[in-house]
Amino acid sequence: MVATAKNTGEGWSSRSAFILAAVGAAVGLGNIWRFPTLAGESGGGAFVIFYIACVFLLGLPLVLSEIFIGRVGQTDAVGSIRRVAGQSNASPAWSIFGGIGAIAAFLILSFYSVVAGWVLYYAGTMGADFIQAILSGDPLRGALAGESRDQIQQRLSDMFASPMLLLVMHLGFMGLTLFIVARGVSSGIEKAATYLMPIFFVLLLGLVIYGAVEGEMGEALTFLFTPDWSKLTPPVMNSALGQALFSLSLGVAGLITYGSYIKEGSGLGSTSAMIAIADTCVALLAGLMIFPIVFAVGLDPAAGPTLVFQTLPFAFQTMPGGALFGFLFFVLILVAAVTSSISLLEVPTAWGIGERGWRRPKSALIFGIGAFVIGIFCLLGYNVWSDVRPLGFWSLFAETDILDTVDGFTGKIMLPLGALLTSLFIGWKADKRLLQTTTGLSPLSFGLFRFLIAWLCPLAVIIILVTGLFPSILGA
Ligand code: PFF
Repeated sequence: MVATAKNTGEGWSSRSAFILAAVGAAVGLGNIWRFPTLAGESGGGAFVIFYIACVFLLGLPLVLSEIFIGRVGQTDAVGSIRRVAGQSNASPAWSIFGGIGAIAAFLILSFYSVVAGWVLYYAGTMGADFIQAILSGDPLRGALAGESRDQIQQRLSDMFASPMLLLVMHLGFMGLTLFIVARGVSSGIEKAATYLMPIFFVLLLGLVIYGAVEGEMGEALTFLFTPDWSKLTPPVMNSALGQALFSLSLGVAGLITYGSYIKEGSGLGSTSAMIAIADTCVALLAGLMIFPIVFAVGLDPAAGPTLVFQTLPFAFQTMPGGALFGFLFFVLILVAAVTSSISLLEVPTAWGIGERGWRRPKSALIFGIGAFVIGIFCLLGYNVWSDVRPLGFWSLFAETDILDTVDGFTGKIMLPLGALLTSLFIGWKADKRLLQTTTGLSPLSFGLFRFLIAWLCPLAVIIILVTGLFPSILGA
């Protein structure tokens, strides 16, 4: 590793370009697939309210911290932390959490692309079905006409049983991610965000309105916002905390990397707040899009991870315009996934450029192909290697297949560790004057921020880490 990182010299063309790209990174499968799944499984209201508290008390200070490090550092995550440490008379060894973040981002990308590949397949299936609906002269019919519920469910099992199909979808999605990142910050990532995010918001609003008109919006609102505090058990709190980190892309140095492309201006506080608010609104809107549809057809909101792939296609079958809206729904998830996966690939890519001096296409290619290969192992875990338990010797992962092991290891260990080190570094080591001038916070907000980042964040994250590693503590 070279001693001083090289500035990449790349940058966003404006503050709004940065916000759009950062919101694009935050809004992803975590909002549209994981959040409703967790809210459904955890009984709704109490989980949702606790989640919102986590986002603002814990997530927001961490968002600001990561952007601050990038803004000051102006290079990849490792180099940026080293620079902030240098300006704060702290040990350069703190940069280790940039390295942990880059490895975590790389590992998350490997399975994120596999799951996004499923979405790609469903978007294709529903798209073909919609075309058939048009050709049959009934464009507003329900989705997958004539198929029984069992047949619709069987589609998912059939997809999982085919390594070739999963591989092609994974390849397609990773190829697209790689293509965008290799083009660079302004002509790749920024351009993708500027085109895709408006499409995303239009689709989201369209689908929420569809859910309100055709579905049971009242029931969904009650489910999502009426708390039954008895359901707020320690495991539920733990998953809400973990979800807040994942959804805001924290602990993987993604926002350090994106923050390093901010060239001028301060006001990082309001920028961070906008990112956290937008991400949370999208998660809530995703709930308000999915649950009215689920309730309209009397389905189970606690269906778990298959909610999106089995429950919803069936719901779209029974609803007018379901073929069209079902197709749009999967396109929406796909768009959200792309703007997130590019941020995941960007973290190690920036490391290769900043620390190794590689050219961007080379760096993106190395990490893109690496993540693709690990993803192949993940997808084989759904068929030929379904018995493989990579960390089976560890009771925590004894029953976990390959994809869920990579997901669990990054989500339960690496991400909280990255977030913990970030909060300790900013709360206790970073130069306070540098922090205040760069963030541009008022004295009052700065005091609150310092309290949250130095005390509440480390404490809460240690709880996530410990209870994540030793679930027996929670009696789970
Ligand atoms: N925040 C993304 C989501 O909610 O889907 C996931 C993610 C993207 C995590 C990028 C971390 C990251 F760097």
